[in-house]
Amino acid sequence: MACSSLVKLNTSSSSQLSFTNQRLPSSASPRRVSIVRAGSYTDDLVKTAKSIASPGRGILAIDESNATAGKRLASIGLDNTEVNRQAYRQLLLTTPGLGEYISGSILFEETLYQSTTDGKKFVDCMRDENIVPGIKVDKGLVPLPGSNNESWCQGLDGLASRSAEYYKQGARFAKWRTVVSIPCGPSALAVKEAAWGLARYAAISQDNGLVPIVEPEILLDGDHPIERTLEVAELVWAEVFHYLAENNVVFEGILLKPSMVTPGAEHKEKASPETVAKYTLSMLKRRVPPAVPGIMFLSGGQSEVEATLNLNAMNQSRNPWHVSFSYARALQNTVLKTWQGRPENFEAAQTSLLIRAKANSLAQLGRYSAEGESEEAKKGMFVKGYTY
Ligand code: 13P
Repeated sequence: MACSSLVKLNTSSSSQLSFTNQRLPSSASPRRVSIVRAGSYTDDLVKTAKSIASPGRGILAIDESNATAGKRLASIGLDNTEVNRQAYRQLLLTTPGLGEYISGSILFEETLYQSTTDGKKFVDCMRDENIVPGIKVDKGLVPLPGSNNESWCQGLDGLASRSAEYYKQGARFAKWRTVVSIPCGPSALAVKEAAWGLARYAAISQDNGLVPIVEPEILLDGDHPIERTLEVAELVWAEVFHYLAENNVVFEGILLKPSMVTPGAEHKEKASPETVAKYTLSMLKRRVPPAVPGIMFLSGGQSEVEATLNLNAMNQSRNPWHVSFSYARALQNTVLKTWQGRPENFEAAQTSLLIRAKANSLAQLGRYSAEGESEEAKKGMFVKGYTY
């Protein structure tokens, strides 16, 4: 980890969030002087992050790339056409009452510019439900040369102008997902690259009015025990926060999207929700400053019920941050199976989305019970080498 140029910033007036240019005392060497950006969006970023991290609410992630959306549609026998993707997203985003449980939704670029079949923009449907529109801004994973078969996440080129466009279109937060693989190492190079990319993206997003969701997904792949996941997660988050600070990212205006700390998917034993909660919260308390407003977990291939139970266990204690969800698979699985692409199932599918959203809302408040959950919701969704 390259941390020789770490600079301490004077943030004593942070209660005012006055991130004006600051200099170190003159006794400090000129090479150690740091300028903290006075982002014109700072107050709005903090407000947006707080509203997404509001009690009993979390994020509905529907930002599957067209290729991944195609796999979802294929699972119910539909072709991967723009019309079918739009129909599915319309089902999700027009669910009446969704805003009671969902505070934000991450969209793929195509969806941000789409409207319902009646011509109402999706972003307006969301605003009517008090759901903040978000946008996936990374350009996906590619092999990382010089590593141990690992990957890196593309998308920094042109990110500032794209983000400004997305803001104009109504987006107020962004997502960048990179991954770290435990069976492949992780190598120091892959961790550094993941952390640096996330930090550059976060700074660029904030500069353009978007709250960045910081997501270094530690993949479930592998047969390692939970202790190994804990070790890797601590390493990754230390590196991420090091570079976030170095890039002068305003911590009050970001959200995190971590993986839960669990054993590898192929480990011989599963961990109970209490164990997952204990390891995950220990890791976060060691690494995440309380200035960060929200921890919005990904589901990563857990079953719908498992992801909800684990979240519920984490909310049995008082935490320094809002601990909630930003699930894709763990909110959409039953919905898709119920819909099957048939107009007559449209309402039943919306009802099943509300059921999952409410279950996770209760879990955010620490009041969820799995009694009466369907068998479908208990099915795991882990896919080896999963791409998003
Ligand atoms: P899952 O909950 O399916 O792991 O989603 C991950 C993600 O990054 C969606 O935005």
